[in-house]
Amino acid sequence: MGKTIIVTGGAGFIGSNFVFHMLDGHPDDRIICLDKLTYAGNLSTLCSVMDRPNFRFVKADICDRNAVNGLFEEEHPDIVVNFAAESHVDRSIEDPGVFLRTNILGTQVMMDACRKYGIERYHQVSTDEVYGDLPLDRPDLFFTETTPIHTSSPYSASKASADLLVLAYHRTFGLPVSISRCSNNYGPYQFPEKLIPLMIINALHDKPLPVYGDGLNVRDWLYVEDHCEAIDRIIHDGRVGEVYNVGGHNEMANIDIVKLICHELGKPESLITHVADRKGHDLRYAIDPAKISRELGWLPKTKFSDGIKKTVAWYLNNRDWWETIISGEYQNYYEKMYGNRV
Ligand code: NAD
Ligand code: TYD
Repeated sequence: MGKTIIVTGGAGFIGSNFVFHMLDGHPDDRIICLDKLTYAGNLSTLCSVMDRPNFRFVKADICDRNAVNGLFEEEHPDIVVNFAAESHVDRSIEDPGVFLRTNILGTQVMMDACRKYGIERYHQVSTDEVYGDLPLDRPDLFFTETTPIHTSSPYSASKASADLLVLAYHRTFGLPVSISRCSNNYGPYQFPEKLIPLMIINALHDKPLPVYGDGLNVRDWLYVEDHCEAIDRIIHDGRVGEVYNVGGHNEMANIDIVKLICHELGKPESLITHVADRKGHDLRYAIDPAKISRELGWLPKTKFSDGIKKTVAWYLNNRDWWETIISGEYQNYYEKMYGNRV
């Protein structure tokens, strides 16, 4: 018999890709997307699956205990995968409060419901940013699951706090949890405030490409589908109580990515504009994925050179998706879809 899986944050970038991944790969499962539809949630992303009998969308806040408990009583989920979060470092520097609320307290509410109603697995989608950064002149160093937590931004501090709480719920209450800490994702449906979609869209409009500082900061990029596959394996075969790092040795300096995007789009590098650096800007992230490879046989399938081409093509072929974001129209989509429904 199929499982019932609550996917929080499923109207966002990675969550929506995960919803598609699960509906394709596990057609017997029932997928319930719980999402508050913040500025980062876009219900139109899910329009192709909205009418599937084994899919349900619920607009709710993960911090709303009554709404979350009500959903558990209705759906009796077997598995919860918690993607819902405030996810943008720059916004966390401007206004940390909502990051603490959603990322920490929201995680608590979801886990309390799992304790109260019982669950097979609670999976927390975390980030490599909880490890802080690595120096640029030590390419031999990588984050492993035992690297100490050492956060830099309010965003990473909130994600690390949530991770600690998840592990505490396992140790104290025996909640069957797992955690994945993934590197930077890219691919379809990423909100255009993040590096890659922002640069693609600005370049298409011949607008300046704002590179923070010298652009030499390094990120370890993973195609979003590879991340979804990793989570799929962890929730089914990963060990309870364990952390799994997810990443694919695809390190790139920001400036090289922006140049590559200019090249792919036939735009001049003169669009690149160096702007003031991000406060507390992490220098380098790099994941050692040995544990998930060894235990679960996971390896990334998409090379960066192919993934970036696919991503640029997706943004070229799906202008409507991001144009309605830029115009703000996407935030009316829920009203249009659900305004007349009871
Ligand atoms: P996103 O910002 O694109 O999407 C977040 C989603 O969560 C949105 O749909 C939003 O509406 C929803 N949400 C926010 N607050 C909510 C709340 N209080 N209740 C219910 N829903 C709420 O984020 P993303 O890039 O898809 O990231 C998803 C998860 O993966 C996050 O937990 C993030 O920390 C983690 N992560 C992201 C990356 C990355 O490169 N993007 C890398 C590693 C880990
Ligand atoms: P981002 O996509 O925000 O992800 P994260 O901060 O979680 O790694 O940024 C990726 C890198 O790109 C990061 O080093 C900051 C840099 N950056 C720019 O140089 N310019 C930009 O406009 C943005 C959004 C990011």
